[in-house]
Amino acid sequence: MEIKDFTNAFGVEPLYIFSAPARVNLIGEHIDYNGGHVLPCAISLFTKALVGKRNDQNVRLYSENTEKEVIADLNNLKYDESLGWANYPLGIFYILISKGYHLPFGLDIYYSSNIPLASGLSSSASILDLTAYLCNEIYTLELDRKDIAMIALEAERKYNGLNCGVMDQAIIALGKKNTCLYLDTFRFLHRYIPLNLLDYSLVVMKTNKPRVLTESKYNERVEECQKALSILKKYYIINNLCDLKSRDLPRIEKLLNDDLLYRRVRHCVTEEERVNKFVLALEDNDISELGRLLDESHESLKNDYEVTGLHLDTICEAARRVAVGARMTGAGFSGCAIAIVKTKKIPELTRVVQKEYKEKTGLDAECLQISVVDGPKGELLG
Ligand code: GLA
Repeated sequence: MEIKDFTNAFGVEPLYIFSAPARVNLIGEHIDYNGGHVLPCAISLFTKALVGKRNDQNVRLYSENTEKEVIADLNNLKYDESLGWANYPLGIFYILISKGYHLPFGLDIYYSSNIPLASGLSSSASILDLTAYLCNEIYTLELDRKDIAMIALEAERKYNGLNCGVMDQAIIALGKKNTCLYLDTFRFLHRYIPLNLLDYSLVVMKTNKPRVLTESKYNERVEECQKALSILKKYYIINNLCDLKSRDLPRIEKLLNDDLLYRRVRHCVTEEERVNKFVLALEDNDISELGRLLDESHESLKNDYEVTGLHLDTICEAARRVAVGARMTGAGFSGCAIAIVKTKKIPELTRVVQKEYKEKTGLDAECLQISVVDGPKGELLG
């Protein structure tokens, strides 16, 4: 993206440039809406925006990726499916206005992203956080990074209709170079944990399988967990499924008397325990334990939570022939997986994964070596 792209699209000069990263979750999957702990990090793929001020109350948005322009009146915003990606930034303006923030003028925003769309790396949370961040800077709203995450979350839930947890919006707003975020999703408390993998690296593996039904299946899992929680609250003093312990599982199985709900709960309970073991292993630089926990997490997401599928299972099985461990990351069903692998073995991992994945699925996988980066940034153009 270059300054002249903005000028070509809008016929005026931009004033600012901003960027926000993508994310992967190391472990703690599907438990951010069950009051659990998660361990994501911000990664070196970015949504960028060039921005200029307007003299009216319109926002004019252009996406380099879709080559589409959308103009909307700030005082008359309403979700419109036909606007596609633009509902994310518009959702931010809508939430800010509904919270009473004063936005005295409109903006021209030119977006460009190298985050693969619909691939489980949170391209949507990235554009949400980016837009909330740039509004905060330009309108001097005095929001901190947690406020930015909450505004982005509301825009996703209330404007775009996905009942997601807070993980993606939080890590993209709060991301810090070479660390992962140990986030208590119920209390919204966090601490940074250095991500020191010695001579190992984190690799992102893309299945390149188009996502289908992810949103509806995601909302279905949220409902199943809510149902199990409402039953278990009669027997346990708990706020969330992740408050339960694995020693409670035999009794929970009897109380629920429903195999599907039981397996959903078992995933939440064991995944929460794995996150805490993962943190200890990170602090001890115990790479083989990290790998073991990644594998275990994937198996639980496959068998108990049922959010993996042929493509994610195949890519992880292939990766494990070279990596110390591998698991799906994000919402699942397709999208991306991660692996921890000896840095010098990345070419071998790529070869093995691409060959085996192609044989079993007919699709081409990609392996991306990423680095762990800071959250949103911005500057005035000189
Ligand atoms: C999506 C959601 C997150 C989280 C993950 C699964 O990325 O946006 O809130 O629930 O799925 O861990």
